[in-house]
Amino acid sequence: MRGISWAGVTVLTVAVAISASLVLTGNGGERDWSTNPLVERGRQVVEACTVCHAIARQDPPRVGPPLWGIVDAPKARTNGFGYSAALAAADGVWDDASLDAFLRDPQAYLPGTAMVFNGIADDADRAGAIAYLRTQAAQ
Ligand code: HEC
Repeated sequence: MRGISWAGVTVLTVAVAISASLVLTGNGGERDWSTNPLVERGRQVVEACTVCHAIARQDPPRVGPPLWGIVDAPKARTNGFGYSAALAAADGVWDDASLDAFLRDPQAYLPGTAMVFNGIADDADRAGAIAYLRTQAAQ
């Protein structure tokens, strides 16, 4: 069930600093997904995740598990990552429905999760985030 390896968090401080500066500068049209409004909306929503997660394949490791290729991937797939007992024991894959539920309220969907995030209340924001994550493939 596990697919990829955890490379560690040695560059976490640098990654957080870069994320902070990207937020401050707005990180304008670095990637252009603007042909799909839902994906573009999701790109902006997912900015909130980048402080803890690598989103693209080339992003450095962060405090959370990497999210490239996460849509339809097995839960708790990253070898060596220190998942909570709750997530480590979770079955199945991160399909649209489970991602939607988790991102709406992480603690409600997965009590005991180590993901300290309040959730995304807006339905279209969650749909956009999932659509954007789908563009970040595993290759
Ligand atoms: C404060 C840090 C933080 C933020 C912000 C955050 N996450 Fe997480 N996320 C984590 C941690 C830590 C875990 C591991 C949770 C566990 O083990 O229970 C995790 C786990 C996940 C997982 C499961 C991955 C797997 O390998 O099974 C997904 C999917 C996910 N996060 C998506 C997101 C998305 C999308 C956002 C932004 C909307 C986000 N997270 C925001 C820290 C964070």
